[in-house]
Amino acid sequence: MSNICLLPVVIGGVLLLLAGECSSQLAAGDRDTLVAIRKGWGNPRSLTSWDPASAIDHCSWDGVTCGGRVVTELSLHYMSLTGTVPAAVCDLANLTRLDLSYNDLSGAFPAATLYRCSRLRFLDLSNNGLDGALPHDIGSLSPAMEHLNLSMNSFSGTVPPAVASLPALRSLLLDTNGFTGAYPAAEIGKLAGLECLRLSGNEFAPAPVPVAFAKLTKLTYLGMSEMNIIGEIREALSSLTELTLLDLSSNNLTGAIPAWVWRHEKLEYLYLYNNTLIGELPRTVTAVNLIEIDLSINQLRGEMSEDFGNLRNLTFLSLYMNKITGTIPASIWLLPELVLVRIQNNNFTGALPAVISPNIQWIEMGNNMFSGSIPRTAITLRGFWAENNQLDCELPADMSKLASLTDLSVPDNRITGPIPATIKLLLNLKSLNLSGNQLTGPIP
Ligand SMILES: *[C@@H]1O[C@H](CO)[C@@H](O)[C@H](O)[C@H]1NC(C)=O
Ligand SMILES: *[C@@H]1O[C@H](CO)[C@@H](O)[C@H](O)[C@H]1NC(C)=O
Ligand SMILES: *[C@@H]1O[C@H](CO)[C@@H](O)[C@H](O)[C@H]1NC(C)=O
Ligand SMILES: *[C@@H]1O[C@H](CO)[C@@H](O)[C@H](O)[C@H]1NC(C)=O
Ligand SMILES: *[C@@H]1O[C@H](CO)[C@@H](O)[C@H](O)[C@H]1NC(C)=O
Ligand SMILES: *[C@@H]1O[C@H](CO)[C@@H](O)[C@H](O)[C@H]1NC(C)=O
Ligand SMILES: *[C@@H]1O[C@H](CO)[C@@H](O)[C@H](O)[C@H]1NC(C)=O
Repeated sequence: MSNICLLPVVIGGVLLLLAGECSSQLAAGDRDTLVAIRKGWGNPRSLTSWDPASAIDHCSWDGVTCGGRVVTELSLHYMSLTGTVPAAVCDLANLTRLDLSYNDLSGAFPAATLYRCSRLRFLDLSNNGLDGALPHDIGSLSPAMEHLNLSMNSFSGTVPPAVASLPALRSLLLDTNGFTGAYPAAEIGKLAGLECLRLSGNEFAPAPVPVAFAKLTKLTYLGMSEMNIIGEIREALSSLTELTLLDLSSNNLTGAIPAWVWRHEKLEYLYLYNNTLIGELPRTVTAVNLIEIDLSINQLRGEMSEDFGNLRNLTFLSLYMNKITGTIPASIWLLPELVLVRIQNNNFTGALPAVISPNIQWIEMGNNMFSGSIPRTAITLRGFWAENNQLDCELPADMSKLASLTDLSVPDNRITGPIPATIKLLLNLKSLNLSGNQLTGPIP
């Protein structure tokens, strides 16, 4: 999945223009500072290259990036760093980017330390063990802050409104923590430059998607799953025309999916699964760049329109556990990029075409009313689950055209005729369930 939150951060080449004498002084200072930082973390093995005795230029030490001669970035992900962030970090006066993700940092948000990084634009503390409430003056981080990533920690308490008082923010990631209460929706709604917002996976107080978010018209990524959202998907959010990812899954959304969702042409990832959405599938879909659609575990009805067959980039279609009826247009089975189709527990009828898209690997379509045959030619198909349908043809005589199958499960259908001898050509097969059919003759 493309991650819009992974925005490249360009550090100004301007630093090259620093006057020689001044920059060498700064450089010496930075070297000492790096050594102090290393000491602050207890001289961990991952920072062995930060050796004051070594002849190697500190700008070449692991994780260190300089602009000209001064340190501008520290990229210290997966360095097994523990404890808190050493106070010396912000003695690097030109530090703009600090990535400490995927470590074992613990304790409270290192506020006093980080407020001194006056040029900081990018702060990634994600995937650590930081806890406690965020400080109410978190807006004292550098006013240049563009990216604040606090995902996957154990922060708790309410999200302070000050988190949205950093005027240049382009990404704000607070997902997968233990935040509670109401989050500062009105304040976040004023962050006009916001492109990526992730609030998923927090026990917020039940509330609808804030109307204030309709003003965030630069948003490309909106992640709001598993955070107790109630109410309908609002019409007002149709203003978010730049969205490439919309994730409102695992909430308590009610009502129908608004038409704008199927019109936004930049949308690539649509996750609305595990809600209580009702209404019919759309008749018109012009969001042709969709790559993944997951609407499973809802109460959706209606039929799949031919328009879904125009989604040339669709790789993943998940509609299981709804009340969808009708035949799936053949054009969908032929979509060139389609890999995974999960449509079990609906009320689909009709048959699959004999030949399906050469990329499909997994089809889960049990508990429907499909008739016809299993696909006859599907060279890449690895798993086919179609239990409890009305498949009523014989198994394909030449099963060699299904040679990638590892799982073939079609119990409780009306499959007739003999088990073809060519079933022996399914050399990758790990599980086979043909029970509850009308097969005749011996197992070859
Ligand atoms: C944290 O968020 C920033 C900004 O969106 C992003 O560039 C970075 O890759 C994220 N970190 C991780 C570990 O995904
Ligand atoms: C680097 O930091 C020093 C000290 O704060 C400052 O004087 C200088 O202007 C900075 N250089 C750049 C290019 O930001
Ligand atoms: C559905 O969402 C609820 C939260 O609303 C969550 O607890 C549950 O694990 C989710 N189930 C699935 C299958 O994602
Ligand atoms: C959301 O739905 C789940 C069951 O799907 C229910 O347990 C929970 O109480 C609901 N929460 C709200 C806020 O309505
Ligand atoms: C599909 O993806 C390709 C390559 O990323 C892109 O050029 C194209 O515009 C996308 N959309 C459609 C409808 O093919
Ligand atoms: C499917 O349709 C049949 C008859 O139309 C109905 O009895 C059954 O309850 C439906 N199943 C689902 C899962 O909606
Ligand atoms: C085959 O499917 C039937 C019906 O779903 C089930 O009862 C049986 O346990 C399955 N057999 C195996 C070996 O998994």
